[in-house]
Amino acid sequence: MATISIEHASKSFGSTEVLRDISLDVKDGEFLVLLGSSGCGKSTLLNIIAGLDPLADGTIRLDGEVVNDVHPKNRDIAMVFQSYALYPNMTVERNIAFGLEMRKYSKAERKAAVREVASLLQIEHLLSRKPSQLSGGQRQRVAMGRALVRRPKIFLFDEPLSNLDAKLRGEMRTEIKKLHQTLKATMVYVTHDQIEAMTLADRIAIMRDGVIQQIGTPQQIYSTPANMYVAGFVGAPPMNFVEVELARRKDQFGVILPAVLKGQPIEYFLPLQETEQLAGREGSKVVLGLRPEMITHNAFGQSSAPEIECDVELVEPTGADTLCLIRLAGQPAKARVSPLFACEPGESMRFSIDTSRICLFDGKTKQLIG
Ligand SMILES: Nc1ncnc2c1ncn2[C@@H]1O[C@H](COP(=O)(O)OP(=O)(O)O)[C@@H](O)[C@H]1O
Ligand SMILES: [Mg+2]
Repeated sequence: MATISIEHASKSFGSTEVLRDISLDVKDGEFLVLLGSSGCGKSTLLNIIAGLDPLADGTIRLDGEVVNDVHPKNRDIAMVFQSYALYPNMTVERNIAFGLEMRKYSKAERKAAVREVASLLQIEHLLSRKPSQLSGGQRQRVAMGRALVRRPKIFLFDEPLSNLDAKLRGEMRTEIKKLHQTLKATMVYVTHDQIEAMTLADRIAIMRDGVIQQIGTPQQIYSTPANMYVAGFVGAPPMNFVEVELARRKDQFGVILPAVLKGQPIEYFLPLQETEQLAGREGSKVVLGLRPEMITHNAFGQSSAPEIECDVELVEPTGADTLCLIRLAGQPAKARVSPLFACEPGESMRFSIDTSRICLFDGKTKQLIG
């Protein structure tokens, strides 16, 4: 068992509040990702879990026991950093075994443990090399080996892949996910990369300025973001935000969506479910959150989703699909269509809008309201 429970954690450096009233539970065997832009407090929170930084206010429990004053060595936690921090003069084998050496494991025990970890990470052939003779990806594997060999209860990762090139990062991501499936250990993983967060996490905690904005599964974060910050942080290209007016047409509740067709302004009406939160708000402005894939081609007119026709200003093929730049409520917006149906820039195109998955945000509070 290895659970982490943080209650009302706060932390300041001087007069700067870095963590504000953070409460977070990590379940046994869970892969939790802390996601947020640089400087939001992710590493500070991770260091607090590891015991490298003292907690000013609040409680941290490991397996139910308060560990606020427990030394990092006695927390049974291993950490992997972005900088590999390998000992340059030691071989890979000794780098991995060093922690065990310090803990007075016998030579035979160390050898067996290193062999097992090396096989798991596929670095058996590198054991006699020095770190300078390794590629970035190989060094990162050795750094992970050093964490794994101790068989800790909890693994903490602080942006471990940030120094690798894009292709290698993708490969290592897959390996870390496999590793988690094999070990079933509790892992907390810090990143600013939303793709890493989405692909790795059982649950994501999104942080901003020392405050957790939302905790949820990748799907929950993606489809029901708590606010515009979360909505804009996850997804590439990001969600389109369109300021629109709530309205009622022929007894149907919905929003008025201004667009441009053949150079002329045109207004479309998008019917929406009238929820309790939205009832009686006709005439007021809200922000429509439309992911690019919710605006797509309606080539055969088969979809029952509402349709709009508008000018396409720019076309961006990405391979698997093509992004069409259109203009909604005066702002640029991106639609995601199949390359088969993409038009030429300057032409107009018919799009269907998946209103079932639309998000509505309050323009002032930026919170999700429907
Ligand atoms: N030891 C420290 N002394 C003073 N300020 C710090 C210290 N460590 C971090 N900070 C500040 O705290 C904020 C959060 O830092 P950090 O947790 O490293 O963010 P992240 O890992 O999300 O990029 C930053 O503004 C950073 O400058
Ligand atoms: Mg950091």
